[in-house]
Amino acid sequence: MFISMKEKFYITTPIYYVNAKPHIGHAYTTIAADVLARFQKLQRKEVFFLTGTDEHGLKIQKEAEKAGKEPQQFVDEISDEFKNLWDKLDIKYDNFIRTTDPKHKEVVQKVLQILKDKGAIYKGSYEGLYCVGCEQFKSENELVDGKCPDHDIVPEKMEEECYLLKMTEIQAELIRKIESDEFKITPERYKNEILSFLKSQTLKDISISRKNVQWGIPLPFDSEQTTYVWIDAFLNYLTGIGWDGDEKNVPKEWPVDVQLIGKDILRVHATIWPAILLHLGIELPKMIFTHGHILSGGKKMSKTLGNAISIDEMIEKFGVDATRYLLLSAGPFGEDVDVTMERMIEKYNADLANGLGNLVSRIIKLSEGFEQEKSSDVTTPEFYKVDMEDSDLSGALKTIWGALIDDCNKYIADTKPWELKKNDPNKFEEVIKKLLGDLNLISDLLVPFMPDTAKKIKTALETKQTDILFPRIK
Ligand code: MSP
Repeated sequence: MFISMKEKFYITTPIYYVNAKPHIGHAYTTIAADVLARFQKLQRKEVFFLTGTDEHGLKIQKEAEKAGKEPQQFVDEISDEFKNLWDKLDIKYDNFIRTTDPKHKEVVQKVLQILKDKGAIYKGSYEGLYCVGCEQFKSENELVDGKCPDHDIVPEKMEEECYLLKMTEIQAELIRKIESDEFKITPERYKNEILSFLKSQTLKDISISRKNVQWGIPLPFDSEQTTYVWIDAFLNYLTGIGWDGDEKNVPKEWPVDVQLIGKDILRVHATIWPAILLHLGIELPKMIFTHGHILSGGKKMSKTLGNAISIDEMIEKFGVDATRYLLLSAGPFGEDVDVTMERMIEKYNADLANGLGNLVSRIIKLSEGFEQEKSSDVTTPEFYKVDMEDSDLSGALKTIWGALIDDCNKYIADTKPWELKKNDPNKFEEVIKKLLGDLNLISDLLVPFMPDTAKKIKTALETKQTDILFPRIK
């Protein structure tokens, strides 16, 4: 008997720090991952979509102290906020991993023991400048005016006894795998950036434990030390699919097909993370896709600048699907994109109220009483497949709007079907058939991006009735 096997597709987001509530940047990555997961599901793949929260480390320990809460209670509360936001945003993940899950902690300890037994980890000491915002040591040349450019703080000088992970012995292999795209880093410029970094120096061994951080997973072979938060965090990509720590037996979802990350965490994802896997003898991820940051008015969003746009405010103002659309269409996925409330309102009115919304009501109204034949299977246009496979989400949206929605609106203006209805019933039928077909296609293509809107359009096509999908906003 022939058994058809579905192709698998495993996608991850970074796990988010729970030092503060989720914001628009977290939503951006997670919505993008949700869109890609939904698209691949429609391609009939066996999809696994993992997201979650990163809950240990100094940064979180300090925030919990500030809030006067036990760290566990503190992380429970914020982790819930992430979950609630994802529910609100119609994110359909398959698992939400938390690094304080007992099962995850157990596997992290198991892996550290394996690495130690293999001789990949050894005891030593580390001296460097530590940025608690990044939870990373920074080299002098990464600082601007002595400060971490991402967090605008002066990193602390630290020297302590710790355990280290050997980096030099995997360096050549890592370079080879990145060069050949076996471990693909994309878009291309990020691959080049990482390659030039890897080729310019001998990698320093990485400190993988901390002596003075209590809020972490204790090392199995030294109870005075806790696991460095990034080591703990990376392993989520394996524990999140149910891995039990046996390097000879990884779950069928592995290797991960796409790992979405922001550009600020590319370096660690292209060095420490593959180093752990290479030492363990586990296949590397197939692809790391790096996106840019969302800026507000040209600057990083911050409380001090008062330029932060809250994700809750966006959802309240625009609704869920429009929020998903506005974030993903704000600029090329992969580059920094700048958003302001004014521009989003403009875009909402132009693309959604006037563009898509108006088109739906016009077509549905024109086709009232029109008996539609059951539409045959629509073929997905080539541009869409290519863009979606390349994670070019903004590109796909741009073409749906530029080549389909705008064209339909123009076609209506040109053919004036309301006149044809009286004067040329045959032509009228032809025009309406084409419009109904196009609208059906548009709704199909929007399913991953705007699931609820796509459903509403389908229903409207059947019932020939619709409410206003996107009321104009002032
Ligand atoms: N906990 C680590 C990741 C561990 S993954 C093994 C972390 N967490 S984070 O919460 O600080 O950031 C998570 C992701 O959110 C990163 O990919 C980061 O780039 C993204 N964003 C944070 N702010 C952002 C914007 N303003 N715009 C777009 N994404 C940004 O790093």
